[in-house]
This record gives sequence, structure tokens and C-alpha cells, in this order.
Amino acid sequence: MGKNGQAYLVGAISAIGGFLFGYDTGVMSSILEMDFWKAYFHNPGPTGVGVIVSLLTAGCFVGSLFAGWLADRFSRKRTIMSACVVFCLGAAIQCGSRNRGMLIVGRFIAGLGVGCLSMTVPVFQSEIAPAHIRGRLVSLQQWAITWGLLVAFWIDYGCHFIKSDAQWRLPIGIQIVPALILFVSMIFMPYSPRWLVDNDRVDEAHKVLARLRSGGNMNDTEVVEELEEIKEAVRVDRETAVRSYLELLRFPIRRRVVLGVVIQILQQLTGINVIMYYASTIFKQSGLSGDNASLLAQGINGVVNMLATIPAILWIDRWGRRKTLMFGSLGCGVTYFIQAVATGATQHKTVDSDGNVNLNMPDGPSYLVIVMMYLFVISFAMTWGPIGWIYPSEIFPMRIRSKANSITTASNWLFNFIIGLVAPILIKKITWGLDLIFAIIMFASIGIIYVFFPETKNRNLEDMEVIFTGSAWAYKDKQRIAEYDNGQHHNIDTKESV
Ligand code: BGC
Repeated sequence: MGKNGQAYLVGAISAIGGFLFGYDTGVMSSILEMDFWKAYFHNPGPTGVGVIVSLLTAGCFVGSLFAGWLADRFSRKRTIMSACVVFCLGAAIQCGSRNRGMLIVGRFIAGLGVGCLSMTVPVFQSEIAPAHIRGRLVSLQQWAITWGLLVAFWIDYGCHFIKSDAQWRLPIGIQIVPALILFVSMIFMPYSPRWLVDNDRVDEAHKVLARLRSGGNMNDTEVVEELEEIKEAVRVDRETAVRSYLELLRFPIRRRVVLGVVIQILQQLTGINVIMYYASTIFKQSGLSGDNASLLAQGINGVVNMLATIPAILWIDRWGRRKTLMFGSLGCGVTYFIQAVATGATQHKTVDSDGNVNLNMPDGPSYLVIVMMYLFVISFAMTWGPIGWIYPSEIFPMRIRSKANSITTASNWLFNFIIGLVAPILIKKITWGLDLIFAIIMFASIGIIYVFFPETKNRNLEDMEVIFTGSAWAYKDKQRIAEYDNGQHHNIDTKESV
């Protein structure tokens, strides 16, 4: 195993939390179309379906808010393990549902687990990672999310051939397996060294760092130096800081909270989940005839999402966060704009007696829309997907990191919830108008990132403190940061974030 092998291993194991996130958010969309499911729950109407789908996201919202406190109090590791137990309970209730009430309660409980994992996993990964591969390790959770979405889709697809209630019970129940794998594997994973130091367990932290950085050599200079840095940072934290949620509203943390919340909201405002949740409706609407064709197009979509995350894992620490986000916004904005023009110029909208919309577009423009949708997913997966989670997990100091991340993560779930609720209405009502709205948001986000978001790749904690206590106009602040870098005695590229 290479030098960072242990860090990769711990990062990869905890990323299974991302798999649960993706699987559970993806699994319901095809189940809603399954005959045995509809018959068992007496054909829920749009409101019933809305409640069943969105209760998961509501649970995620609540779970992520609680996770901040839990992860500080009981450790990142134990919080991840507890979230697995809660998740299994929620999945078991859903799987064994005898009525709608049980299904809804099960969705909410599973959501508590997913929300908790979605906050704790990136924080844990970023705390065990050496700075120069931190982006990569946190991207692993995003990759796992895409795998979860993908596997859920194809398992649903396979199960729709079963002609009994197992058709829907199986895909829901099977997610207990990865949750158990995560639970058991986490027993063997270390505590976050930062959390250990913060809880006065310095000797253990020393051992963990040695395991993560140097194959167990406690005398390794890098290990000793890093431990000293963490101790120093925790000492300074204790002298200067109160550890309450109130601190999130005060200088110098407030700016970072705003940036963390904005980046998570913008990640949802890319509209990715309009595609993830409703792709088959959109594909059908724009002319892909037959259920199978649109299902297949959605399945391919999942594969594209997963594959396009790989470049981010490989190169995000080289590309940096700012440029990558701006590039992603440009890609998303342009693809939305082309979809809006192609649809707006050629649609002849009709609505059938069941309320299904057909845009009656000619073949050319309708294929163009589908290709643009895939290019959009690629633009998202390489950029906003991973960085939406990386950035908040790395900008806060130890004392407040998990509390702050619980707020940023909850904002992500809140907007996920809102978009899930309004998108199906807008897709039918304003069709290409929705593409135009997303295009405008994406173009505006280029300016927002350029003006307000400092670069964070390869930085350690002291650098973060310097970077975020300067001018709020990030693009004007380069001179000061360059001066700081020139005054540094060490090579910041290989330093760790505390
Ligand atoms: C987002 C999810 C989305 C997924 C798609 C994640 O980063 O937070 O809302 O469904 O990416 O890959």
C-alpha cells in the first residue's frame, strides 16, 4: 500500500455513506411506477406520492441538523455508525410496510440516517486526509452517491420483472446490506485525529496519524509535525473561541457560513435533481416514445453521472475549486440555454386527458435536448457535484467545523426538497422556461464564484484562517495571500488542513 494507502482506505470505506445517500434518494422514482406497489398502496395520487417522496428529504434535513452536535459530542466515527443503525431501521420499516403510514414513517427515519451521513462523512474524510489529496478523498463520497443512484435504478429495473410484492420490497430492503457493511467496517476505522486532539486524547491521535501517514511509524517527522500543528490549532481555538452555534453568526466565521450555505444552495440550483428525479418524464415529454426508451435513457444518465465524476476524483486537487466551479457553471448554463432555445422554437405543446404533456417536437431538436441533458450531467458531475461537498468540509476550523457543516448540509437538503416539490409542476407548465431560469442562475453563479469564493486547494488551517479573514471580495484579495505565501517557510502544497 502506498504512503497514503490507509487514508484512501478510510476515505473509501466511509464513502459507503454516500452510496446509501444515492441509493435511497434514487430507489423510489421507479418504484412509484411499479404495478404491485400501486396496487398495494391503492394508487396514491400526486399529493400522496409527493409526501412519500419528499418525507425522505425532510428526514435528511432534520438528520443533518442533529449530526453537527452528535459528531462533536460522540465523534465522527460513532455518528456514522449510529446513522447506519437508524438507516437500517428506516429501511426495514419501509420494506415491511403494511400501509402508507408505515412507508412514510420509514422514509423519514431512513432520511434521518442519510442526512446525518451526508454531513458527517465529508467532514470525517476531510479530517483524515493529507491536504494535497483532500479534494480527492471527499470526491469519493460524491462518486459513491452516483454509484448509489445508478445501482438503485438498475435494481429497480431488474425487480420490475418480479410479479409479486417483492417487486418493490426487495429494492427497498436490499439497502440494509451496504448499511451493515459500513457499520461493521467502521468498527475497524480510526477516530478522526482532529477530533481526538480536541477531546484531549493526544496519544491516540498520534497513533492514528502514524497509521494514516507512515505505516505506523510514530517518529516520522511529518507525523510529529502534523500532530504539533493540530495541537497548536486546538489550543488557539480554545483560547479564542466560544463553541456555540452563535459563533457561526460572528466574525470571522460568518463569512464562511454564508459561502458554505451559498455553495450548497447553488449546487441544488444547478437543477441536477430535476434530471435525477424526473428524467424519464422529461425524456417522454420531449418525444422519446415508449416507456422502455425513456427508462433506458434515464439509466444511461446514471452511468454518465458516475463516469463523469472520475476526472474530478483524479484532478480536482490540481484544478482547484474556483476555476472548476466556474467552468461547471458555464457548461451547465450553455447546455440549459441550448435546450431552452431548441424547445422554445419547436414545441407544439398538447395535454392529454390524463394531464400528460407532449411537446410534439421534431426529431432533430428533441435529440438535441437529450444530448444537452447528458452534457449538462457531465458538467455537473465533474464540478458542482463534488465541490458542493468538498468546499464546506474544508473551510471551517476544528472547533466549529461540524456545527457549521450541519447548517450548510441542511441548506442543501432544504433546496433539494423545494426543487423536488416544484419541478414537476414547472416542467409541465413552463417547459423550456425552466431551462431558461436554470441557465440564468448558472451564468450568474460564475460571477458569484469569481467575486466571493477564495481558492482553497492544498491549504492547511493557518492558510484558511488567513484566506477567510481578508476582504470579502475574493478576487481582489490575491495580493495579500501571495504575500502571505511568500512569507511561508514550508511548502503549503503538502500541508494538512486542521
Ligand atoms: C447532490 C444530490 C444529487 C447528486 C447527483 C449530489 O452532490 O447533493 O442532490 O442527487 O449529487 O449525483
